[in-house]
Amino acid sequence: MSPQPEGIRGATISGTGMYVPERVLTNADLEKMVDTTDSWIVERTGIRERRIARDDEPSSEMAVIAVRRALESAKLEPKDIDQIIVVTTTPDRFLPSCACTIQKKIGASNAAAYDVFAACTGFIYGLGLARSLIGSRVAETILVIGVEKLSSIVDYTDRNTCVLFGDGAGAAIVQPAQPGQGILAVSMRSDGELGEVLEIPAGGSARPMDEAAVRAKDNTIHMRGKELFKIAVRTMEESLREALNEAGVGMDELKLVIPHQANQRIIDAMRDRLGVPADKVITNIDRYGNTSSASIPISLDEVVREGRLKPGDHVAFVAFGGGVTWGASVMRWTMPAPLVPVEPATLVSARRS
Ligand code: ACO
Repeated sequence: MSPQPEGIRGATISGTGMYVPERVLTNADLEKMVDTTDSWIVERTGIRERRIARDDEPSSEMAVIAVRRALESAKLEPKDIDQIIVVTTTPDRFLPSCACTIQKKIGASNAAAYDVFAACTGFIYGLGLARSLIGSRVAETILVIGVEKLSSIVDYTDRNTCVLFGDGAGAAIVQPAQPGQGILAVSMRSDGELGEVLEIPAGGSARPMDEAAVRAKDNTIHMRGKELFKIAVRTMEESLREALNEAGVGMDELKLVIPHQANQRIIDAMRDRLGVPADKVITNIDRYGNTSSASIPISLDEVVREGRLKPGDHVAFVAFGGGVTWGASVMRWTMPAPLVPVEPATLVSARRS
């Protein structure tokens, strides 16, 4: 837990944006690819469809569209950005970083740009980092981007994993806030002892990619789903309670909870343990599947544009992911609600160069 020391200035989200690719992969499509059924996938995960990026659409391309929308909503230009923090497991390549590639594409020439690896918890980690950098006056305007092209690391012959994941990007602009406004608490945790429950065995310095690794599909996600399920429910409950406690906000004061979209049953189990009513918990896993670090900023942008958050509302984010990592954040919302709510469907299909 990292409480903001007294006297440190606050930080808040002043703009959001999201993008998902046009191509839809439905459960019916997956029935033709692996031994599975629509009813199994819906019952066990809540997922009906997910988006898949084009071959010529790497993570940076998706991120650029989300970033342009976030900048527009914050009424900022790329040159206003001091730092670009990209949270991802699927950078375009390992060198240069995905953040530097995005910096080049948007022309954010005044920014320091770097990637952070915290798997599905990435957005919470990025928010925690941005809050500290703004609190300590190292930066004024920080872009936090969660982006994933998980289709590039999924084995589409493995029914245990291929039904779960999708591609997409979400972005948030973090800027200074008045004391007691904006990000009130961030809880960031990890336990490397549990790392093997979710891993990509090859492609790093421990085991560089070679033909044998590709033949064994060790360049794709390997997951012990049942173990992860239990870890997820326990850690998300713990960290949300921790962040609420730090923020001095009661569970019943939350307007919305935006959880990482990993599995509908994980979200439901967490919700039951916390005693939060279903209508306060955001889910879009039926439409996008699990987009890892992108899932919270995608969900956030949707609720913001639907006008579901207004200044003074309390909103919480909570996530877990590979590493194992987990965390939560509680905010007192500061962005004005849009005058005319924007339908998510128009966002999803809208494309911008
Ligand atoms: N279609 C049909 N049957 C399947 C499928 C499928 N797509 N996948 C697995 N099965 C079978 C299994 O082979 C198993 O068969 P068996 O009993 O003959 O061995 C049976 O279904 C039950 O499998 P379980 O693993 O027990 O199913 P479970 O109810 O646990 O659901 C799931 C599996 C969905 C993976 C669940 O464990 C889960 O969601 N775990 C967490 C996964 C997760 O959150 N991953 C991402 C975390 S981090 C991040 O977001 C990157």
